[in-house]
Order: sequence, then structure tokens, then C-alpha cells
Amino acid sequence: MLANKNVLLIVSGGIAAEKIPELISKLTSRGCKIRCILTNSGSKFISTDELTKLTRQPTYQEMFFKNKNDKMEHIYLSREADLILVAPATANIIAKIANGIADDLASTTLLANDKPIFIAPSMNVMMWRNHATQVNIKKILEQRVIPIGPESGLLACGEIGEGRMSEPETIVKYIENYFQKSSDLKSLSGHKIIVTSGPTQEPIDPVRFISNRSSGKQGYLIAHTLSKFGAEVVLISGPTSETYPKDIKIIKVETAEEMLEASISELPSSVFISVAAVSDWRVESVPLNKIKKNKMNEINLTLTRNPDILSCVSKAGSLRPNLVIGFSAETENVIKNSKIKLEEKGCDWIVANDVSDGFGHNTNQVHIITKNNIDAWPKLEKSEVALKLSQLIDNFLEKQNNAT
Ligand SMILES: Cc1cc2nc3c(=O)[nH]c(=O)nc-3n(C[C@H](O)[C@H](O)[C@H](O)COP(=O)(O)O)c2cc1C
Repeated sequence: MLANKNVLLIVSGGIAAEKIPELISKLTSRGCKIRCILTNSGSKFISTDELTKLTRQPTYQEMFFKNKNDKMEHIYLSREADLILVAPATANIIAKIANGIADDLASTTLLANDKPIFIAPSMNVMMWRNHATQVNIKKILEQRVIPIGPESGLLACGEIGEGRMSEPETIVKYIENYFQKSSDLKSLSGHKIIVTSGPTQEPIDPVRFISNRSSGKQGYLIAHTLSKFGAEVVLISGPTSETYPKDIKIIKVETAEEMLEASISELPSSVFISVAAVSDWRVESVPLNKIKKNKMNEINLTLTRNPDILSCVSKAGSLRPNLVIGFSAETENVIKNSKIKLEEKGCDWIVANDVSDGFGHNTNQVHIITKNNIDAWPKLEKSEVALKLSQLIDNFLEKQNNAT
């Protein structure tokens, strides 16, 4: 269950830091990849060198980098993790999480984090019972931080009571359970979702075509992620060199008209996501045979508008999915043009994508535009865009389900 999972372990300045080598060894022996952030107080109990040796990964302590071109660790460390574990979690770091204090690498990473946080509190019994700590614990529960322990017993300071950090084996079990549950969690099961992806190819004659530079990468990742969430995904794909995801129904098409036909024939569905870069125009009349070059220095092609698939699905009456999402690739006035698109096409969300530096990258910087809101996402790996979008869809469908 822990194989290939990335855990970001934050070690703060408690006496239980001496149990961290055992915890790391239990996690790594189960296949976990661990990176550590150490607080300054934590470094009084265990060294960065020791953590680096145990994890075979660099250990981080400083907030500000030596080289101005280095990546911002307080952002990317959590992005690359599946989960964050704070062990031992001092009263101080719990107070910082509860109150949004970000004054070192550990606390800033926790504030900038987008992953589940587990904490293993460890402190003197009076520190634990202190009203301030108890208020902070309540606050962090509201932030969906999950505490593991503490246990009661004889404390390192010689006093007896609550405050002992849970044993490494118990912490590992919690984390294993979490990953087990999230892999069992098929929250979108029972929902059919149609995703269109890739470019379309519009023939000029039997051997030539008009197309665009869409790679199909983002659509494939969205289809794959939604399927992991348990959705029944139908991927309608234009020609691309992406590998077809397993366990997903694929309908291969070439032209916009074929893509429209496939989309309509797959309705009804809960959600429709138009990621495909559909050619706006096609050649009005395509000859049966290859156009001969002969002595022609020029050729005039009459182009005609292709059907607007997003519009057609948005206006499909009783067959309209509950949630229709379009992607808008723009090279200028991204937000303004995308808002117009949302309005004109009648869809529910537009994922506005600035493609002024071209198609085919592994990252995307998008805005999620709805009738009343614009949410700017940072530049993310396309897989992260797929995950965040799938989570939004999941939340939307859950809310809708609760409302009915
Ligand atoms: C020997 C020693 C042991 C400590 N053990 C703990 C502890 O178990 N839990 C705790 O909350 N604070 C403990 N502290 C106090 C913290 O180290 C102190 O509050 C520090 O500011 C925490 O910083 P950090 O949260 O950034 O790591 C201890 C201090 C000393 C000197």
C-alpha cells in the first residue's frame, strides 16, 4: 500500500525526534519515498545529515535558497508529496498550523500545502492540556488536519499523562489505512463522464488535412484521473500519439463532425468535458482524389464552419449533462475571451488556458471560470490540473447529490 508513495516528513523540535529513524526505516522498508523538512529546533535533536542518510533524499531546513534560480521549496515539496506527516509535532508547530503562521520552511510549507496533513503530537502533559493547545487542536481539525495520538503514559520529562508521541508502528498503520481508503474511494462511481481530447483533422483531399498542434495530453490525463475516481469514462479522441489509457472506452475520430456525432451518441452523461482542440473550419468540398499539383501555383480552398460541439452539448435539452465544461485555448485576452465563450456556448465552466507559448508542454496555467467566479490556478503539471479538476467535479456532483 505504501509502495511509491511520497511522504513529506516534517520533524519539529520535540524529544520524540529520537523515534524518527525507526519511523523512517518502517516507512522506507514498505516502499515509501520520504523527504524531510527539519525545523531549527528539530535540528537540536536530529541532524539533516542523519535524515538524509536515512531517507537517501536531500533534507531541507532553510527557507531562502542559496541560488536565486533554485525551485521554491515551500511550494514544490508539498506538490511532489502524496501526504504530509508532522512527527513529532510540537505544541509550537500545531499553533502555527492552527493560526496560519509561516515563519520558517516547515510552517510555510504547511500553509502553502495542498495535500492531507497528519500530525503526531508529542509534548509534556501540561503543554497538551493547556487551553491554548486544545483550542489549536480544535482549529486544525476544522482544517482537516488528522492527528495521530498522542498517547498517555510516562513522558520523557518524567511526568505522567497524555503527550507521548504514538509509536512509529501506529503512525505507519494510520498512513497505510489512509492510502488504502483513498485507493478504495471510488467517489465518482455511477457517473458517466465524456471527455473529448486531441486535435481534429479536416481533410483537404484523401491525403492532406488541416489540423492544429494539440497533443491530447491534458485530455488523456483528465480521462485517466476521472477513471481512477471511479467514473465510467468515455474518451473521444482525435488523432494523437498519446498512449490509450487502459480500462477506458475510447472512440477514435478524425473530424469535428465525427467528434460531434460520437459525443451526442454517448449522451446522456453526468459530465461532458470538451478538452479537444476542434478545428473551427473544414474544407467545404473534399475531392475523392488527390488534388494534382500540375502547373497550379495557387490553390483556393473554401472553408466552412465546423459544428460547435461544446455548444451543441450545452444545448442538448433533456440530454444535457448536469455539468458541461469547455477548455478555451487563447493566445490573448484569455479571461475576457473565455468569459465570452462561457456565455455564448452556454456551458457551466470554462478552463481558460493561455497557449501563447504554444501547445504540447507538460505544464498548464489555467483559470477556472464560472458565471460568478474566476479562480486562478498556479502553473501546474498537467497531471495536477487533471487531479484538481477531478476533485472539483467530484465536489460539484457530491453537492448536487446532497441537494436532491
Ligand atoms: C530538551 C527539550 C525537549 C523538548 N521537547 C518538546 C516536546 O516534546 N514537545 C514540544 O512541543 N516542545 C518541546 N520542546 C520545546 C520546543 O523545542 C520549542 O517549543 C520550540 O520552539 C519548537 O520549535 P519548532 O516547533 O519550530 O520545532 C523541547 C525543548 C527542549 C529543550
